Amino acid sequence: MSRQLFVTTALPYANGNFHIGHIMEYIQADTWVRHQRMQGSTVHFVCADDAHGAPIMIAAEKAGKTPQQFVADISAGRKPYLDGFHISFDNWHSTDAPENHELAQDIYRALKANDLISTRTIEQFYDPQKAMFLPDRFIKGECPKCGTKDQYGDNCESCGAVYSPTDLKNPYSALSGATPELRKSEHYFFKLSDPRCVAFLEGWTADGNHLQTEVYNKIKEWLIPKEDGQRDLGDWDISRDAPYFGIEIPDAPGKYFYVWLDAPIGYLASLKNLFIKQHGAVAGAQAFETFLADPATEQVHFIGKDIITFHTLFWPAMLHFSGRKTPNVVHVHGFLTINSGEKMSKSRGTGLDPLKYL
Ligand code: 2FM
Ligand code: ZN
Repeated sequence: MSRQLFVTTALPYANGNFHIGHIMEYIQADTWVRHQRMQGSTVHFVCADDAHGAPIMIAAEKAGKTPQQFVADISAGRKPYLDGFHISFDNWHSTDAPENHELAQDIYRALKANDLISTRTIEQFYDPQKAMFLPDRFIKGECPKCGTKDQYGDNCESCGAVYSPTDLKNPYSALSGATPELRKSEHYFFKLSDPRCVAFLEGWTADGNHLQTEVYNKIKEWLIPKEDGQRDLGDWDISRDAPYFGIEIPDAPGKYFYVWLDAPIGYLASLKNLFIKQHGAVAGAQAFETFLADPATEQVHFIGKDIITFHTLFWPAMLHFSGRKTPNVVHVHGFLTINSGEKMSKSRGTGLDPLKYL
């Protein structure tokens, strides 16, 4: 049967070259796509650089480049990998492209109109020297449990304790070394705890066609109420304060979308860009909306197991409550490992460079 397919792989962060895990996912998806094409199906197979977020902004600053230039340089190095492994993407785009700015702001406006956006003041560590709020991974200090020095803000590599950055003893900014201060800031939230979202996600995840059983079993942990009646699925903090490399939140000066809000929207932006390349700006934009809204179009994502919450909870809810069609299938793979189950690590010399492999 000839099908109409929109297929994606996860968008790689534009802060480094591909590792073998990226390539493994692309080959998996590419194999499936080639099979569909041989069957006579129409397939639009797209990807893009995931350009935004504090780590990329900071890496760019270190490299003495603007974030835009930094991302463009990474993107320019993608070709030998994709050609070398014969990955047949129809388009490669960027989450910083105009299509993504526009789509992200449109989707946000629709969620807001649906009364699914709220604001709340939260307290966060602030680096007074760099004049910015610090992402968790840029806060270090002593483990509150065992006292080991130089541990990250979320867990201790020595004793395995899990905590929040504010629990660290003698915290310091990994950017400047300064002692961070707790400061208040207003954040924007996607109200995933709204009964409409919970009901929708219970139904969407339980539909046997969308997810592998193992993935559904894992994701249920977020949806099933605990003994105290609370669910792990809470409202999702979707804003970050300037300075931030990202997309501005409409009518919220100095606030940007958290990178994970606009990243999956990048799938749509890359597809739209492909249609625009094929049909021109006006006809392409129209063809994109028609194709996406067509009930016959199947939207299929390939991802790794580390990013299932974003793809099986947040993303379907964003699409559904902004009046769009939701994904048909999310295919989830595990990790490539080495030495019977160890994580590959560049620093330990157990990484596998795809170009060397070629
Ligand atoms: O985990 C990652 O590498 C992310 N850059 C994946 C994003 S997938 C999609 F949402 F853009
Ligand atoms: Zn510890």
